[in-house]
Amino acid sequence: MMVVNMAICVTSVANAAQGTATFYKPPYVPSSCYGYQNNGSMIAAASDAIWGNRSACGTSYNVSCGGATNKGVPPCRGTSVVVKIVDYCPAGCKGTINLSQEAFSAIANPDAGKILIEYTEV
Ligand SMILES: *[C@@H]1O[C@H](CO)[C@@H](O)[C@H](O)[C@H]1NC(C)=O
Ligand SMILES: *[C@@H]1O[C@H](CO)[C@@H](O)[C@H](O)[C@H]1NC(C)=O
Ligand SMILES: *[C@@H]1O[C@H](CO)[C@@H](O)[C@H](O)[C@H]1NC(C)=O
Ligand SMILES: *[C@@H]1O[C@H](CO)[C@@H](O)[C@H](O)[C@H]1NC(C)=O
Repeated sequence: MMVVNMAICVTSVANAAQGTATFYKPPYVPSSCYGYQNNGSMIAAASDAIWGNRSACGTSYNVSCGGATNKGVPPCRGTSVVVKIVDYCPAGCKGTINLSQEAFSAIANPDAGKILIEYTEV
């Protein structure tokens, strides 16, 4: 049993953290990091798990869908998306990363509302 668990650890994606993602809709400005500057739609708001007192501003994350958070229709599209952190999702945030609607839709069916994710800083 131990050997099997170790083998799974070694073969899983290196350095990918696991969490959850929700999404939010436009308008995307003003953002906590950049005010009224338009940084496009491939953006996200960071929860305290990665916000780091603004140090996450301007960092990019490669996010992929890891599955459903409930027993609904499987939401993943089998793709990944790179987003830039431009905003803060305050305490009580429902996910690790709050993606833009466009970014969420790129990796999963938005009807799911919330998904499991794997994310890596890039
Ligand atoms: C967050 O950063 C600001 C500005 O650099 C600093 O004044 C403040 O003390 C920091 N807060 C925490 C909780 O580290
Ligand atoms: C956000 O957009 C502004 C221009 O609207 C740009 O000056 C700034 O560098 C962008 N920030 C990032 C982190 O992309
Ligand atoms: C993002 O992660 C996925 C899955 O781990 C990988 O296939 C893809 O090449 C990565 N993309 C970038 C731009 O790093
Ligand atoms: C993040 O997502 C939640 C929905 O889960 C939303 O209510 C909230 O306004 C969003 N916050 C930010 C900063 O985008």
